[in-house]
Amino acid sequence: MSTRVDNIYGVIGDPIGHSLSPRMHNAAFKKLGLNCIYLPFRVTRRDLKSALIGMRALNIRGFNVITPHKTAVIKFLDELDETAEEIGAVNTIHNDEGRLVGYNTDGLGIVRALQEQREDPSDRRVVLIGAGGAARAVAFTLARKARSVFILNRTWHKAAKLAKDIERRLGKKILARSLAVDSLIEALRDADVLINATSVGMYPRTEQTVATRKVLHSGIVVLDIVYNPMKTLLLREAEAAGAKTITGVGMLVHQGAEAFKIWTNHSPPVEVMRRALMRELSRQ
Ligand code: ATR
Repeated sequence: MSTRVDNIYGVIGDPIGHSLSPRMHNAAFKKLGLNCIYLPFRVTRRDLKSALIGMRALNIRGFNVITPHKTAVIKFLDELDETAEEIGAVNTIHNDEGRLVGYNTDGLGIVRALQEQREDPSDRRVVLIGAGGAARAVAFTLARKARSVFILNRTWHKAAKLAKDIERRLGKKILARSLAVDSLIEALRDADVLINATSVGMYPRTEQTVATRKVLHSGIVVLDIVYNPMKTLLLREAEAAGAKTITGVGMLVHQGAEAFKIWTNHSPPVEVMRRALMRELSRQ
């Protein structure tokens, strides 16, 4: 790395040790010859406000935001772009000459991850598991494109609230149920795409899955947003049921690539970013 650093970027969350974003963005900066650096910052809930005041004071040009700050961060920003405002969660902050602007690139990330596997969500019937921050981004984005979205979540009232928020905003009827074998079978009967937007199956609890081969079938495409491990138990169960599978790496790459573009105005070197991630994931 050159000793000159023009701009600093980073990711804030708690915990932060597992984040692969520094690898991905630093590889992109290197490829484009930009004298920039991307660092992980562990920020507790209590310190979130100070971290954003510090962002301005230190002229840190961009942050990615992960759990548990995606919603809490909003009240400390100067402006939200339309998508982040609609979703009610931010995963990217741009420090635009002292104005902190919030974006959400997760939805775009999942659409591109599907499209690069020739699975355009337009007109598809989507079953989405989860109703947290990541699921909200996926649900709002796909509700605009897909034929239908059926949300299942362990805590029913969160699924119902997300469905209602989407209906109010987009005027589209969204089904919501609590997550159980019966509701999964019902939802998957006519589904084209199943997306897991929960943390179930993530390292170290890799023996967990939201669905088994018994409820899956060969007519669906299964995407897991969990990328660590790359092949989760859900994806292995889906393969056993004859379904097409898509790992969470694509979404991670594309949400990062979009954030990179917002910050730098450069076209992101997507394949360089993907290779950096894959290298790290195969090492782990
Ligand atoms: P994120 O920002 O990563 O989406 P989150 O907002 O905490 O994180 O949301 C986590 C999601 O994973 C929720 O949908 C959660 O379900 P609840 O709303 O019932 O909490 C889901 N989740 C986490 N652990 C789960 C488990 N063991 N079984 C089923 N769902 C789980």
